[in-house]
Amino acid sequence: MMSTPSPLLVSCLSHCIIASLALAAGPCDIYASGGTPCVAAHSTTRALFSAYFGPLYQISRGSDNATIDISPLSAGGVANASAQDSFCSNSNTTCLIATIYDQTGRGNHLKQAPPGGADKGTDPNGFDTLAAADGAPVTLNSQKAYGVFISPGTGYRNDVTNGIAVGDDPEGMYAIFDGTHVNGDCCFDYGNAETSNTDTGNGAMEAIYFGTGGGKGSGSGPWVQMDAENGLFSGGNRSVNPSNPTSDSRFVTAIVKGQPNNWAIRGGDATSGSLSTFFNGVRPSGGYNPMKKQGAIILGIGGDNSNRAQGTFYEGVMTSGFPSDETENSVQANIGAAGYAAAPMTSGPSTLSVGSAVSFRATTACCTNRYIAHTGTMVNTQIITPSNSSATRLSASWNVVAGLGNNACVSFESRDTPGNYIRHSNFQLFVNVSDGTQVFKEDATWCPQAALNGKGNSIRSWSFPTHYFRHFNAILYAASNGGPSDYDSKNLFNDDVSWVVGPAFA
Ligand SMILES: *[C@@H]1O[C@H](CO)[C@@H](O)[C@H](O)[C@H]1NC(C)=O
Ligand SMILES: *[C@@H]1O[C@H](CO)[C@@H](O)[C@H](O)[C@H]1NC(C)=O
Ligand SMILES: *[C@@H]1O[C@H](CO)[C@@H](O)[C@H](O)[C@H]1NC(C)=O
Ligand SMILES: *[C@@H]1O[C@H](CO)[C@@H](O)[C@H](O)[C@H]1NC(C)=O
Ligand SMILES: *[C@@H]1O[C@H](CO)[C@@H](O)[C@H](O)[C@H]1NC(C)=O
Ligand SMILES: *[C@@H]1O[C@H](CO)[C@@H](O)[C@H](O)[C@H]1NC(C)=O
Repeated sequence: MMSTPSPLLVSCLSHCIIASLALAAGPCDIYASGGTPCVAAHSTTRALFSAYFGPLYQISRGSDNATIDISPLSAGGVANASAQDSFCSNSNTTCLIATIYDQTGRGNHLKQAPPGGADKGTDPNGFDTLAAADGAPVTLNSQKAYGVFISPGTGYRNDVTNGIAVGDDPEGMYAIFDGTHVNGDCCFDYGNAETSNTDTGNGAMEAIYFGTGGGKGSGSGPWVQMDAENGLFSGGNRSVNPSNPTSDSRFVTAIVKGQPNNWAIRGGDATSGSLSTFFNGVRPSGGYNPMKKQGAIILGIGGDNSNRAQGTFYEGVMTSGFPSDETENSVQANIGAAGYAAAPMTSGPSTLSVGSAVSFRATTACCTNRYIAHTGTMVNTQIITPSNSSATRLSASWNVVAGLGNNACVSFESRDTPGNYIRHSNFQLFVNVSDGTQVFKEDATWCPQAALNGKGNSIRSWSFPTHYFRHFNAILYAASNGGPSDYDSKNLFNDDVSWVVGPAFA
């Protein structure tokens, strides 16, 4: 005969089981219990199911093209960033994010996006570029991880998916972005797009758009919006939606969901607080009802591969079915508990601290007597010795100032032309006066790290983290390892991007 447990014990048991399930549940466990399961789940920072222990992303290494998969430290845990760091020899070689795996088991992985109707990439086959593996360092509850830093020209896609909404099927999606890394160009998106890489008409897409373009909302942006093809909607029509606030926190939760003749935008700070609904209403007029979704998945680009936008992606999912607000609110609580925080962007033997005045000596065997200097607006290398004129020596001297585009990094002001900074333009370096634009400030922002050849520092572009200060035929470029231009040559890359930082010339 079974003994009957006391009502207190029954209550305690069920409470404790529910509590431990709730604690362990990842975003996709929460969507599943809400009846709207994930059909795609992408993150380079953590597992999105409590039981997931498979690969999160694959990186490829510049030195030998070798690849490895990066997995969580434990089931449901944060990515093993030290596996990436040791594979990339703690930054002795460049590494790229080649694949962002789908954690749902449906195989909806994201890879290098092919050329599309609007833009093609700079890859020899017209594919978009891949993101630097270490362009977006963060911590999750103090554990190091890396996000996906999308520069203009970078994009990921999957045109042959499984289980993603098509036609007017209901779906939901969320993503976590960096609210301080945006622009107004088309289109930093995550979500549902055309399988043809071309614009097939209004309603062919249902993706989250994040940036300062589109229909806009209150303040100066960025705003969470829906890209429904030929329309970035901040609300029910193409006008400004004053109920859609500027979402410029360092980590932003962005949500779009849609079902027959109804869709919504929601958002919040991914590190604290709750979600707000910025719009919930009927489909825009003009061919958006019913929707004609095709079920491809894009990241960092528009449906026709418009690849001129920038942004940072940490994690995101797409669901089958229209998630309830309550389900999304639980997901937001999980995201807050994940503990996203910014991590240092610089490293290396010289701190290149703000307020110092420095010189940069080349380390390639040909050129160890040459320093970064400028002649007019052109940045080059020059042989500098004590016998040179003071004007010559000053042309090779630089003030380290807070990064004009992001103060986690630095900018370099010419000591002989104050107010002029080293910036890249079409990947050549110039000394230009700041025109005050966001593009100038970002193009003049550099993140020093340990030198790729172990001698000094390498100076990496903040806005294009695959690109470094490189001398090539005595001219300075922002070069990428194996990129499309002659100055991107893999030959001597590590040496040409490594500089010994010393004091400025008096
Ligand atoms: C790496 O791949 C590129 C092109 O895909 C090729 O040109 C290069 O030779 C490869 N390098 C090595 C070391 O295999
Ligand atoms: C993380 O990666 C490092 C380096 O590859 C490895 O030694 C370690 O075992 C990994 N940790 C886990 C928990 O898999
Ligand atoms: C656009 O939507 C707003 C409400 O969000 C409404 O006030 C406005 O009249 C609409 N404009 C047009 C042209 O339909
Ligand atoms: C600096 O002086 C050296 C000789 O000491 C000379 O070779 C070099 O060309 C001079 N540099 C410049 C920029 O004139
Ligand atoms: C920067 O210098 C280049 C090269 O001289 C010039 O073409 C460009 O107009 C300058 N840009 C600004 C913003 O001064
Ligand atoms: C890698 O970098 C370390 C220090 O950052 C240096 O000691 C080592 O020599 C470098 N290795 C190679 C192969 O360049």
